[in-house]
Amino acid sequence: MYHMCLKNFLPLRTKSSLNIQYNATISMNKTKEKTSLLDINKVRADFPLLKREMHDQPIVFLDSAASSQKPASVIERMDYYYKNQHANVHRGVYQLSQEATDAFEEARRAVQSFLNAASDKEVIFTRGTTESINLVASSFGRKYLKEGDEVLISAMEHHSNIVPWQLICEQTGAHLKVVPVNDRGELIMEDFDHLLSERTKIVAMVHISNALGTINPIKTIIDKAHAKNIPVLIDGAQAVPHQKIDVQALDVDFYVFSAHKMLGPTGMGVLYGKESWLDAMPPYHGGGEMIKTVTFEKTTFNELPFKFEAGTPDMAAAVGLHAAIEYMEQIGHDAIQAHEADLLAYGTEKLQAIDGLRIIGTADKKASVISFVVEGTHPYDIGAILDQQGIAVRTGHHCTQPLMDRYGIPGTVRASFALYNTKEEIDKLVAGVQRALKMLL
Ligand code: ALA
Repeated sequence: MYHMCLKNFLPLRTKSSLNIQYNATISMNKTKEKTSLLDINKVRADFPLLKREMHDQPIVFLDSAASSQKPASVIERMDYYYKNQHANVHRGVYQLSQEATDAFEEARRAVQSFLNAASDKEVIFTRGTTESINLVASSFGRKYLKEGDEVLISAMEHHSNIVPWQLICEQTGAHLKVVPVNDRGELIMEDFDHLLSERTKIVAMVHISNALGTINPIKTIIDKAHAKNIPVLIDGAQAVPHQKIDVQALDVDFYVFSAHKMLGPTGMGVLYGKESWLDAMPPYHGGGEMIKTVTFEKTTFNELPFKFEAGTPDMAAAVGLHAAIEYMEQIGHDAIQAHEADLLAYGTEKLQAIDGLRIIGTADKKASVISFVVEGTHPYDIGAILDQQGIAVRTGHHCTQPLMDRYGIPGTVRASFALYNTKEEIDKLVAGVQRALKMLL
């Protein structure tokens, strides 16, 4: 049974005429009401790992912000690629290499359409969000940053949107400036306005905070930066699994994300960049693929997107990402968002009713992440006791140490919900936390 896979390597124009029956059956609702449109049982059945038990209980997986589970269609697509299509891409005149190249480049066009990018030249495959940010920090930074310039980030950035900028600032003499957050975990926009100056050469901000769930006003940020001719990079790692992104409507200069948080494979990420910026920026990694001509005296570089894709890419992961995009689009962004908003509201209400529990991150606009601490306990202890009950949450600083410092805490317990989670699982989390607190307090 391999209906999803066939779809990926058929020419795009034939796809719409195919009446392909997806594993992920959805309830269509044409009225666009703000209700959950998911057939949750059918969605769950698409995810093999959710059938597992952990410590003799059905697993309750509430750590999708770290990495989501994968539907069978993604796993099968990659399996099919290796069994039937694998050869190196862009290199062979033989049929198999051309088929692999077609599948790989079709995955790129799927990402282009997923983001509504103007051209497939603007889609660079990387190993993940972290590599995408390092690429921009290094390449943009080497060309455009000099002593006294500033890079503007926020206090809620993941380490991967802090450290690459620190590294390039050290090399160039530029300075890192940080927009603070308020007690609720929202950016203080008055400070953003003050910090955005003629010294700012790039703004790099997270779309949705992995630790707090805050959804940042990125359109406002982009517009304000552009009013001063400053480009903007948005870290979309936590946003793409939850909402539709339109890079042209946002007019964003760089938008980055990872496949593994949006139902796709690990080791695969995307850098979207406006063609004008990518054209102007120097290469990041050197090697095969990214060159036009090489002599010992001088090398000339390939055109976009290959200029930034040195070495053999991860073709299997690219077709896996394509399958993940198809899966998400079949379910529908509206349905995913409505379902997760339901879970967030339910989980927030239930968890905050627990005595002594404090939610860290109570922004007005939030995605389906609930971080919390309980006075007199350590997050690791709660996490370990939850694990014994088959409940997987993340504990610790979530790679946001400066943010934890801002709240004066070592870390949090973080439950993050995806399209396959249920209210029953949240009930189990709440009961699990109560049991943990009985043991710890
Ligand atoms: N950035 C990932 C998380 O938030 C790993 O858990």
